[in-house]
Amino acid sequence: MSETLTKAAARNIFYGGTVFFFVVFGVLVADSVTDAIAIAKVNPITPSVAAGKRIWERHACFDCHTLFGEGARFAPELGNVWLRYGGDKDPDGARESLKQWIKNQPTRVEGRHQMPHFDLTEQQLDQIVDYLRWTSRVNTQNWPPHISG
Ligand code: HEC
Repeated sequence: MSETLTKAAARNIFYGGTVFFFVVFGVLVADSVTDAIAIAKVNPITPSVAAGKRIWERHACFDCHTLFGEGARFAPELGNVWLRYGGDKDPDGARESLKQWIKNQPTRVEGRHQMPHFDLTEQQLDQIVDYLRWTSRVNTQNWPPHISG
């Protein structure tokens, strides 16, 4: 075997490496797409979920809350608030409690951080709850680690 790398060998390594990593890339893309399709079936982004996300953005809920750890830390994490309110066991009860909570702000309880009142319609409240239910079903690999957020 020759000590130096020949032009032909360098070319083969280049082409071989390129083909190999294109194949790897293709397999990874196919895997991601299959995952995304499977996830969209179990946790679809319905028009209501999308509308809820727009409410979340319009009212800047993230100015105080985190979602999956992103946002300000003035108020509880909301990525799992649906589960905190028992949404997996009693979806109707959790929906009502969450809507009531939002409607009843601010509590004016001494010594607690306050959440402002948002003038949302019943439909908008349902949409924000649909969005929070959707976030609770995103696979975040157990983040946040505690149900308390
Ligand atoms: C100015 C800060 C602020 C903003 C903006 C805000 N919140 Fe809050 N939110 C709070 C605080 C503070 C609490 C906790 C109050 C308490 O426990 O007494 C809270 C609590 C909550 C809870 C209950 C959490 C739990 O674990 O019980 C929900 C649900 C909620 N907020 C939803 C929202 C939504 C939806 C928006 C946007 C439309 C929003 N918040 C915007 C401050 C805010």
